[in-house]
Amino acid sequence: MPLENMKAMLSKAAAGKYAVGAFNVLDYNSTKAVVQAAEELRAPVIIQTSAKTVTFWGSRTLMGWVKELAARSRAPVAVHLDHCKDLALIKECIEAGWTSVMIDASAKPFEENLFVSRQVVEMARPKDVTVEAELGAIVGVEDDIHVKEQDSHLADPAQAVEFCAKVQPDCFAPAIGTAHGIYKGEPKIAYHILQEVAASTRVPIALHGGTGLSDEVFKRCIALGCAKVNISTQIKYAFIDGFVAYHSAHNTQYDPLKVIQAQFDEMKKAIAADIQLFGGAGKA
Ligand code: 13P
Repeated sequence: MPLENMKAMLSKAAAGKYAVGAFNVLDYNSTKAVVQAAEELRAPVIIQTSAKTVTFWGSRTLMGWVKELAARSRAPVAVHLDHCKDLALIKECIEAGWTSVMIDASAKPFEENLFVSRQVVEMARPKDVTVEAELGAIVGVEDDIHVKEQDSHLADPAQAVEFCAKVQPDCFAPAIGTAHGIYKGEPKIAYHILQEVAASTRVPIALHGGTGLSDEVFKRCIALGCAKVNISTQIKYAFIDGFVAYHSAHNTQYDPLKVIQAQFDEMKKAIAADIQLFGGAGKA
């Protein structure tokens, strides 16, 4: 199928009280794992790319394999640029065929975040590209984005209403206490903020920091309005662990394609379990 943007995907998910998994891919193999897991489960899916991954491979190369995999699949697939602060890279991705982008101007003062996020909406909407924007600051490390504990803060619900009314994002990422990377303790999720923001903005919410949250946290967040769940660290672990496990079990065998297959299997298993957990199976 041709690539689609997140608009219809996320409004259907929000209405149906499930979430679409957004998986950060690293290479062709991980992208294939995402698309195949979604197709087998008849689920919509979002291929997500960090700015670092786009810069590493180049936007055209990456888009080449995304388009080829999506075209051969029956799963509805969107391709989304994750946390991006760089307007030139956002523009480049829109031109290269990304169907969705995230502007992360959350480190800027409120008015400036609003202004920059609005600029991205104006750049993206005429091209039918959806936009995710962030308010508050999500703690942790997501590739090139580092937010220290002392610099993180939750989204303010009143500001969230003003932000969404003025920016009109297609998807909203308020900081609600989740973190990028591995959780050090039990995350303290501000469910009251999520509930208030989802009800008052009526914009589908993106849940960041998906790796390591419990089934119960996912279910509660999805019930309260999270229509997109971001998973990155888990894919990185499956990528490395798949390699290490295969090589430790076959340490005299140097057959790279078997290692690549083992990585693929490990990533696909994790992605399929997530899609099922978020309720996306059978929704395509
Ligand atoms: P994790 O790395 O914690 O899964 O978070 C992913 C994410 O939110 C990407 O934006």
